[in-house]
Amino acid sequence: MKRSLSGIKPTGTPHLGNYLGMIGPAIAMQKTHETFYFIANYHALTSVRDPKALRWDTLSVAAQFLAFGLDSSHGAFYRQSDVPQVNELAWVLGCMTSMGDLTRAHAYKAAKDKGEEGTINLGVFSYPVLMAADIILFDSDVVPVGQDQVQHIEMARGMAQRFNHYFGPTLKEPQELVASNVATVPGIDGRKMSKSYNNGIEPLAAPKELKKQVMAIVTDSKGLEDKKDPDTCNIVSLYKFFASAEELADMKTKYRAGGYGYGHAKLALLDKLEARFSPAREKYNDLMSRPQDLEDILQDGAKKARKVAEGVLERTLKACGIR
Ligand code: TRP
Repeated sequence: MKRSLSGIKPTGTPHLGNYLGMIGPAIAMQKTHETFYFIANYHALTSVRDPKALRWDTLSVAAQFLAFGLDSSHGAFYRQSDVPQVNELAWVLGCMTSMGDLTRAHAYKAAKDKGEEGTINLGVFSYPVLMAADIILFDSDVVPVGQDQVQHIEMARGMAQRFNHYFGPTLKEPQELVASNVATVPGIDGRKMSKSYNNGIEPLAAPKELKKQVMAIVTDSKGLEDKKDPDTCNIVSLYKFFASAEELADMKTKYRAGGYGYGHAKLALLDKLEARFSPAREKYNDLMSRPQDLEDILQDGAKKARKVAEGVLERTLKACGIR
């Protein structure tokens, strides 16, 4: 069975964009792949400065994956920092990576464009190297990610290729896998849903909070009776991910006819979200009330992950003359 690997940064609560773009498709792959999924807490440290929040978000994101249906017995589900070999491999890969390549990475370029080149930390600069180590350390075949991470996977592939060029075939070259129908999920303000825009809808939030987020979706100011354009509406753009083709067509017809308000459409979307996610919310709340069990699951996953990691690291260190 081919191995699918992916990670998610524990910086706040995952939103629908994360779910549709990465978490959902990654979990669906457990039918066809062995899955190695992890919580990238070292990556979070490039920006998080609140230890309590980091600890809490790490557990919370883990509980969300399990609540959404990840079967932890199927591969390995772990916390990045519980597999310390990843930092050893990151050093090796860093020695195969040019400064020039790293300055072309999106996150660094964005910081540079904001004039933060001098204050950006080394962790942000070398983020793609640690990420490549995450992937390569497990001989990963495919990496399900959102569109925004494709560049990172290409860089990881480049690092494996360079290592293999110098030292002979040693490292597996990973392939990205981007869920095709969810290029962009709009946030409540119509921009791409993103933690940094604070425009997310969090599927496992408490019912009241979820309703508040849905009700805050921005629309134009047409009144109840007005005819509306479904093709430019943020509510419809989100509804289409959760409704059947018929339900979607029905909503569009109502938009065009008039007499159907944005409030109605928001409630229809909310119904869909509740129907889809309320069982997962219950499971999430249950897991978060048993943090020790959650920890046990992660430790069990780390044990399995370390076993694979030790083998790949040993092979790598031998190939390049460290051992
Ligand atoms: N950079 C990814 C993100 O921001 C998280 C991540 C870290 C990751 N390591 C990874 C994703 C390895 C896939 C594979 O979402």
